[in-house]
Amino acid sequence: MAAQRKPLMPALDLLLSRRSISPVLLTDPGPSDAEINAMIEVALRAPDHGNLRPWAFAIVRGDARRRLGDVFAEALAARDPTATEPLLERERGRPLRSPVVIACGVRVRPDHKIAEIEQLMAAGAATMNLLNAAHALGFGAMWVTGANAYDPMVAEALGFAAPDRLVGFVYVGTPPEALRPVERPAVEAHAREWTGPVPAAVRAA
Ligand SMILES: Cc1cc2nc3c(=O)[nH]c(=O)nc-3n(C[C@H](O)[C@H](O)[C@H](O)COP(=O)(O)O)c2cc1C
Repeated sequence: MAAQRKPLMPALDLLLSRRSISPVLLTDPGPSDAEINAMIEVALRAPDHGNLRPWAFAIVRGDARRRLGDVFAEALAARDPTATEPLLERERGRPLRSPVVIACGVRVRPDHKIAEIEQLMAAGAATMNLLNAAHALGFGAMWVTGANAYDPMVAEALGFAAPDRLVGFVYVGTPPEALRPVERPAVEAHAREWTGPVPAAVRAA
């Protein structure tokens, strides 16, 4: 089934207007099956050295978010046996903040001629595409890592046993009507013309 797409803004306006929205501000409805499908399709257009297609996604919604919260809490208890009940409860509640959580991971091929960092970057690019696609469909989203994304117990529960790993969680939902404006950096602060080797004095600055 084709996704119910909202009218597209011109591509650059769309990309320039993307912003992260905190998971706590993302409400129902989340993306439908067709919309999630469209987002994943866009993710799958990420560049990928060697055609490894190393990315993989686990969509968590509805009651499964409670089970993911339990996994987060169990993982915290294993990392820190002194974790207090309020902290465990906070972990249980994390996935419930937004209607849909997409666990983004990478199927790592450790000894492949394509370096592992390139496999990770490809999965990162796919995750970025997912964020842009969510925005294009009118949803708010945010890429979050934190301890859960790096905990092998969490990764395993989501189907990413080592050497596979998570690159993060994308929380998706309906954004609030009003948002505080965000400041964006100036291009000059991050890009410059290169005309030859950078002098040592400038390199050190
Ligand atoms: C790999 C990665 C991991 C991130 N993890 C977190 C996180 O755990 N918590 C958080 O508050 N922001 C995290 N962020 C930052 C937000 O996703 C977001 O980019 C940031 O708040 C800036 O908002 P913007 O996307 O509108 O520029 C992460 C970003 C990236 C790329």
